[in-house]
Amino acid sequence: MLAAKREVAEAAAALVEPGMRLGLGSGSTALLFVEALGRRVAAGLTLGAVVATSQATENKARDCGIALADMMLADAPTGLDLAIDGADEVDPAFRLVKGGGACLTREKIVAAMAQRVVIIVDGTKMVEKLGRFALPVEVVPFGYAATAARIERTFGVEVVLRGDDAPLVTDNGNYILDIPFGDIADPEMVAARLSEMAGVVEHGLFIGMADEVLIAGEGGLTRRSA
Ligand code: A5P
Repeated sequence: MLAAKREVAEAAAALVEPGMRLGLGSGSTALLFVEALGRRVAAGLTLGAVVATSQATENKARDCGIALADMMLADAPTGLDLAIDGADEVDPAFRLVKGGGACLTREKIVAAMAQRVVIIVDGTKMVEKLGRFALPVEVVPFGYAATAARIERTFGVEVVLRGDDAPLVTDNGNYILDIPFGDIADPEMVAARLSEMAGVVEHGLFIGMADEVLIAGEGGLTRRSA
């Protein structure tokens, strides 16, 4: 699995061209990509503005000598040439479930900024139907029990507040509710219903965002375009 992640991360780093404005994803595969990119930067590759999708990715990028834009400023970048990120599930229509690392909101903002979004996964992430991986939803802590109850009433599924002894707090200061659908029959409908709910900051369904998927499997690397 690690070898597959490394292979796909190296392939993604090779897609980066000089001067590109880049979005760096989150999760273990994306961090391997950041390391591979760092090696290219150390070898002389220059980049345009680079944006990280989580504190963990920010830390890794800095350790690898990659300078980052500050996305909290008014003059932060508003567009990117390429965003490279992992995913928890990818279906045949390139719809994704993301957020296993609790970074879905920043990941979606960065993907929406990018002209081209490339998703890097090992073959285990490719599924016929989304939903076996519980769908992460980032919610505001205020009234989160009411938001959770509304989600449960809407979909008839019991949600799980992420965290062990205490709720996990995202980089944005919010909580994560995981919805164990098992099978998402209509991802567009679920996405639309969640997006309109008070208290929901963002959900982990990424629909119509991925342009390409790089898949590392036993037979080597496959590249698919939407
Ligand atoms: C982070 O919030 C996620 O969206 C990750 O991109 C996703 O969980 C994939 O992570 P791995 O590469 O660690 O499997």
